[in-house]
Amino acid sequence: MKRIDLLVVGAAEVATPLGTRALLGEDFGQLRVLAGGAVAVEGERIIAVGPQAELESRFEARMRLDAQGGTVLPGLIDAHTHPVFAGTREREFEMRMAGASYLEIAEAGGGIASSLAGVRAASLGELTALLAGRAERFLAAGTTTVEAKTGYGLTLEDELRGLEAIAAADRSSAVDFIPTCLAAHAYPPEFAGNHRAYEDLLAGEVWPAVVEQGIARYADIFTEAHVFDLDATRRVMEAAREAGLALRLHVDQLTPLGGAELAAELGARSADHLEHVSSEGCAALARAGVVATLSPLVPLYLRETQEAPARKLVEAGVAVAVSTDFNPGSCYCLSLFEACSWAALRYGFSAGEALTAATLNAAASLDLAGDRGSLEPGKRADILVTDLPNHLHLTYELGRNPVRNVVKDGRVVWSVGEGAVPCPAE
Ligand code: NIG
Ligand code: FE
Repeated sequence: MKRIDLLVVGAAEVATPLGTRALLGEDFGQLRVLAGGAVAVEGERIIAVGPQAELESRFEARMRLDAQGGTVLPGLIDAHTHPVFAGTREREFEMRMAGASYLEIAEAGGGIASSLAGVRAASLGELTALLAGRAERFLAAGTTTVEAKTGYGLTLEDELRGLEAIAAADRSSAVDFIPTCLAAHAYPPEFAGNHRAYEDLLAGEVWPAVVEQGIARYADIFTEAHVFDLDATRRVMEAAREAGLALRLHVDQLTPLGGAELAAELGARSADHLEHVSSEGCAALARAGVVATLSPLVPLYLRETQEAPARKLVEAGVAVAVSTDFNPGSCYCLSLFEACSWAALRYGFSAGEALTAATLNAAASLDLAGDRGSLEPGKRADILVTDLPNHLHLTYELGRNPVRNVVKDGRVVWSVGEGAVPCPAE
């Protein structure tokens, strides 16, 4: 019998999307659901998924993790977060509850600008400690890979320090952080009278420095009438692409601007938000193979009524991912389970669609679908043991964390109650 490192047993179901690319159209939401399934792990990779009896007859495991009748899922992947911040914005939340809009608060000097002071004043050690604490909360919520944007520094030095904090937290925690430089989140106040000079700084200094240090995979921008308009976005993102960064864009979130069409034209990996995307924008994303990364918690949190047209995007043939957009302003919630429930309630996603959007399709938006995002031989062993009696409870249950154990790269890194237990030698 082959000796392996870990066998996950005792599951009611193992539920997972399948494949090494995003699932679209008719395939979106098609899961493999294996009642009484088990997962075999060697090193940091999955080597088999199948009926428990069969895997037990093939493998002798050093450790066993008992799912105790729960559902086993792939580690969740959050493809859009802004976790590098120091200081929260609960007063803005109160203002919104009293009727102010996100744009009104931003125009009055709140919003992104109000998060700059905290990040600029924080040392690398302080930013890293904050992020490492958030990493533990992501893990506890079942998220094993987190795309992490900077964007509250908005100077070369402060953006690079944010990226260094992401790299440090990635090394010190079990979570994989995938770094994105969002130096184009807003025009910093010092450039209020001279936006073009900030665009030149991004193109001439920030993107080249980020590439030279090899410290981010993606460049991102907030394309919106009150921040970077379409012309500015084209200039800044063409420069990022020329410097060697792949692109993600915040587009058509608060107003319909045609940002999705531009994301497609620029060959972005991901177009995010999309509450106000046009029909032409949906078609352009599908043609260009850009993933639509949606954040259903954000309109809820901002009290905006317009939802992203998720079903229309799916029907147009766009790969859809679901993220939290965790940040101190527009979504102070890092639970992808919560985002999946809201994707069901607001978009009409099935549990299978929500799971695919928060695993394999999210991985595809990060160029990682060959490596993770599903439970299959060869994939990274990022595995959740939940106490859900079946996978439909993923979206059905609201506001409760069902995660019992988190396996990251083949190791049990987080548990409520008992973790993996060694198997006595025979
Ligand atoms: O994704 N849209 C721009 N950025 C964030 C909000 C950031 C903030 O308000 O601090 C978002 O919603
Ligand atoms: Fe965002």
